[in-house]
Amino acid sequence: MEVTPYQGSSNNKKEQVEQMFDNIAHKYDFLNHFLSLGIDKLWRKKAVRLLKNYQPKSILDVATGTGDFAIAARKTNAEKIVGFDLSEKMIRVGEQKVKRFKLDHLIQFQKGDSENMPFGDESFDAITVAFGVRNFENLEIGLDEFFRVLKPGGVAVILEFSKPKYFPFKQLYKFYFFKILPFIGGLVSKDTSAYSYLPESVMAFPDDHDFLSILIERGFDTAIQKRQTFGIATIYLAVK
Ligand SMILES: C[S@@+](CC[C@H](N)C(=O)[O-])C[C@H]1O[C@@H](n2cnc3c(N)ncnc32)[C@H](O)[C@@H]1O
Repeated sequence: MEVTPYQGSSNNKKEQVEQMFDNIAHKYDFLNHFLSLGIDKLWRKKAVRLLKNYQPKSILDVATGTGDFAIAARKTNAEKIVGFDLSEKMIRVGEQKVKRFKLDHLIQFQKGDSENMPFGDESFDAITVAFGVRNFENLEIGLDEFFRVLKPGGVAVILEFSKPKYFPFKQLYKFYFFKILPFIGGLVSKDTSAYSYLPESVMAFPDDHDFLSILIERGFDTAIQKRQTFGIATIYLAVK
């Protein structure tokens, strides 16, 4: 069965995901950093360090949300960063943040669907995505779009939750993800479904070699992974 935010809703997954992020946009940043104890920032930083080796001039940050990965990506010294997302309300929060950081000359936001992007073929040197691909309605179509808009030799850096495999992290992670996180997330955001959807969607999503195989199947030349913090998250790096 497909894992969606609001089981029982007559809307499709994409509509539900948009609605969910619109609902939680005002609390998203606070909850993100609070529930991850700030580790999410370190993961993005690490991903940006890896991306910097490719010296991209143009970056498309897919599923940019409130723009944290786009903002972190300024450290690559890129000349243009586009933050692209389904949720209008997440983008609004991101725009305010980018203004505060005085980065509006570098980072522009655009609303749209990453499974059908309004960009030409081979138009970006790099794609970044943090905690986005798991929410796609159709992962393969989304990855095909990444491949299409990347220049030859371009790189996709994908940060996503994965599943720790070994005792005791596997057990601790499940307890935290299924018991503590939905409780606090639901209480603060007032959207209980959003924070039960998170662990369920992580469990249902391919990680490790399964995700690497999908990247290669979609046409990427090489794909490697760097597991983070006992496997709670993974950075995947795929070159066109
Ligand atoms: C968990 S947030 C991640 C935000 C940000 N990348 C970060 O690191 O905090 C996931 C974002 O993906 C967006 N999203 C999900 N499916 C999408 C799609 N098909 N096209 C564009 N954005 C999408 C949501 O609107 C949401 O803002």
